[in-house]
Amino acid sequence: MTRSVTERRVLSVIGGVIPLVFAFYVYRLHGMTDFINDYGPLQRNLLYLVTVGLLAWAGLAIDLLWRKKRDRAGAAVARFAWIMPVVAILLTTGFAGYILVPKYSGGGDVPPQLILLTTPSGHAVPNLAVSFYTAAATKNTLLWGEADGKLRHATERSAVRKHWFELSGLKPDTQYMYTVNDSSAVRFRTPPASGETFWFAAAGDAHVGNETSNTAATERMLKNIALPTNGYSLFFDLGDTAQLGFNRGIWQTAGDTFSPYTGSIPTAYVPGNHDTMLGGLGLYQRYLGLPASAGGDAPLYRRIDCGGAHFLLLDLEWELGTYTPAEKVWLEAQLKSIPPRDWTIVMCHTFFYASGGEEDGWPWYDNKAVINELTPLFKKYDVDLVISGHKHQAEVLRSDGVTYVIAGTLGGRPDTILTHTSPASLWLKQGVLGFADVTIQGSSATVAFRDADDKVLYRTTIKK
Ligand SMILES: [Fe+2]
Ligand SMILES: [Fe+2]
Repeated sequence: MTRSVTERRVLSVIGGVIPLVFAFYVYRLHGMTDFINDYGPLQRNLLYLVTVGLLAWAGLAIDLLWRKKRDRAGAAVARFAWIMPVVAILLTTGFAGYILVPKYSGGGDVPPQLILLTTPSGHAVPNLAVSFYTAAATKNTLLWGEADGKLRHATERSAVRKHWFELSGLKPDTQYMYTVNDSSAVRFRTPPASGETFWFAAAGDAHVGNETSNTAATERMLKNIALPTNGYSLFFDLGDTAQLGFNRGIWQTAGDTFSPYTGSIPTAYVPGNHDTMLGGLGLYQRYLGLPASAGGDAPLYRRIDCGGAHFLLLDLEWELGTYTPAEKVWLEAQLKSIPPRDWTIVMCHTFFYASGGEEDGWPWYDNKAVINELTPLFKKYDVDLVISGHKHQAEVLRSDGVTYVIAGTLGGRPDTILTHTSPASLWLKQGVLGFADVTIQGSSATVAFRDADDKVLYRTTIKK
């Protein structure tokens, strides 16, 4: 056997292995089982890649069977056996480069945000953290305290990139301020005391970094939500904040878009499938997530209590691919522990009941897997309200006494396909941007949907 024949066969083996290993690696990344199963274009591209790898092996097999032929057919087989592994290696390298280059390059500093933490027992107001990121490791100082009181001083022990200052022991309905390294002071108000009326806003799917997203509208909505005179105490972002979660530059743009507003209103993010896609989980954690040192519940799902309202934030990004057994046990334990007279509000990226139509090979309506798995729990434990994104439309639905709100309307291109109306639907508006505006007032809650110009398009009341 000549040296070139040996080289060709070694190349064929490698050309078959590389796409398979790469496809398996992608499939195993956080959230990617659902993404690949449910999103036709990605599924097709991975299938093409694996097929090219298999063709490289097919070329090797034919080459081995044909090895004694020195005719034109034998030469064609030899060419095929050379070309297929080269194509397989080039395609895999291209795909890997598409993910890894933006993941490990670009991106700069991201300004401070005020992140909601799990509420420690005995406290009426959730702890908060001032969180920001610097491209280079730096050591920072935070001054914070009641706006008209004595300020506290905290300095990081060493130079780091992810900066995390926890603000604990906060009093309700009190104005606080903070300043990082003597920059201009940011003021914020803590939520009111237990039993007082309070407002919160929720929306997702800003999809910053997608050319079809309306990021100017995203900023307009965030500005309205953070405006002190509008009275919102909390803001929940329902995921898909970044279009490509593996792209540092996009995360920086998202941070620059959100921080001017989320720096002054207590904010919680839930992970969306776009945030964590193709290995984006690490960047999501870096820019929006809680560090492991934050303690409490697992950082991807957590509970936030605000007086008599209990928010359970889940990691449910599409179907059940990210819903771990540990998360399931945790959710049931939380639901069990909430007194029936209190408000139980679940938030996650993916939707449960919804009207819509099929797109990219997946039925974007009544999400069967999550309905079957979670809604019996919601019914059993009297969950009051479930707020989700993922579908880019505004919809309010009710099933088994639970109200479901879809508000995937924070800037990503609105959905327009409607071939199936959910039997649970009360109100649907497609082609609109906006956010859910919820008022908790004793034993009743008002759920409204406001468009990007702050106009109320729908309102319903829920009684305990
Ligand atoms: Fe989305
Ligand atoms: Fe999504």
